[in-house]
Amino acid sequence: MSRVATNLDAYWMPFTANRDFKKKPRVISGAEGHYYTTEDGTRLYDMFSGLWTSGAGHCHPKIVDAVQKQVAQLDYCMTFQVTNNKAIELADRVTQIAPDGIDHCFFTNSGSESVDTALKIALGYHRARGEGNRTRLIGRERGYHGVNFGGMSVGGMVPNRKAFSANLIPGVDHIRHTHNLERNAFTRGLPEYGVELADDLERLCALHDGSNIAAVIVEPIAGSTGVLPPPVGYLERLRDICDRHGILLIFDEVIAAFGRLGTPFGAQRVGVTPDIITTAKGLTNGVIPMGAVLVRDSVYNAFMQGPENMIEIFHGYTYSGHPVAAAAGLACLDLYEEEGTFEQAKALEQQFEDLLHSFADHKHVIDVRNYGLMGAIEMAPRDGAPGARGGETHKKCFWDENLVVRNGMDTLQFSPFLNSDPDEMQQSFEGVRRVLDSIE
Ligand SMILES: Cc1ncc(COP(=O)(O)O)c(C=O)c1O
Repeated sequence: MSRVATNLDAYWMPFTANRDFKKKPRVISGAEGHYYTTEDGTRLYDMFSGLWTSGAGHCHPKIVDAVQKQVAQLDYCMTFQVTNNKAIELADRVTQIAPDGIDHCFFTNSGSESVDTALKIALGYHRARGEGNRTRLIGRERGYHGVNFGGMSVGGMVPNRKAFSANLIPGVDHIRHTHNLERNAFTRGLPEYGVELADDLERLCALHDGSNIAAVIVEPIAGSTGVLPPPVGYLERLRDICDRHGILLIFDEVIAAFGRLGTPFGAQRVGVTPDIITTAKGLTNGVIPMGAVLVRDSVYNAFMQGPENMIEIFHGYTYSGHPVAAAAGLACLDLYEEEGTFEQAKALEQQFEDLLHSFADHKHVIDVRNYGLMGAIEMAPRDGAPGARGGETHKKCFWDENLVVRNGMDTLQFSPFLNSDPDEMQQSFEGVRRVLDSIE
């Protein structure tokens, strides 16, 4: 049996055009700092910091060291009925940097699990308070909340839902997305128009009666459907409507948390505090899969009643609070603090914004969007071939410019390292420009 991975047949890749990919695979075998390496020694600059995951750079020595030590000391320990010291410490540390009043932390292994956990917590919270009629969940068009059934149902990414439309969970409704090319194209930061779209929630309260709605889930800034910053005042208005109707507000911060918006949590940057926050990715800098759901005191306390020998929430994963993941998380929080990673991210924002918007006059470009260190360049689709221009850009960046760039259809998405080097960032965008200039 061959020991070299030359046959890709067995490998079914996630969110990838498998047949096209396998004709000319793009395979990474190493990483250091801001670069990937391939088997033949080529270095590629990573313009997406993993998959929004690795803001502090790849193979950060402090995280590597913590993981190596932990795996040799306590490789695994169940967290049902006993637990490990690292999980306890990480929950405490994460809640210390969370928005005021968000004081409890439940561990998962991914963003999708965090979302489904949050939805279950919301339903359980209302039931525990004697409002078990509050079962409706509200998402938003063009939201992305992972791929499990709950997250897919509240999500608004059409291809994800299409194949499963008959099997999505019942009792879900959506408010409209906030993307408005006509009025907001080429806005720097938060767009001016669209605050009134938050009133969609009021409309759904009128339709279903607000007393039947358990929670609303939104990304503070929609990421995976193309970086859609919220209109000025929009999140405040959502918060206000939730308060008036007793609805929990969930921020899905799987991307926004841990510095992507220059603050520990996105909530702190946008100045709106939700009741529940979902996280993953930057919690461990992507090194070990881990997520966390953070909740307000009032949510946690609602569960802490009844006989004390009884389990309060029948929910958890074998790897919730895995000690090696938790050790990676603790190392991340240490280095974020010691190296001032979130402040570094904030300081890079202006340059990032300017670089992105320098594409505004490019013949293929129909919009540029940015907030924090999240950015997108939207290109016009080719006639009859949506996604082709974006796909070709991704491949040419990889093969011709040694750049890893992500495209969602014809929108290029950018997630620079929180500690990017300004010169490297500049050079990487010059490479993207050469590619855009060279394609039809
Ligand atoms: C906002 C948001 N929620 C949930 C998820 C799903 O996370 P995962 O892929 O870790 O399950 C993602 C992934 O990008 C995300 O961006």
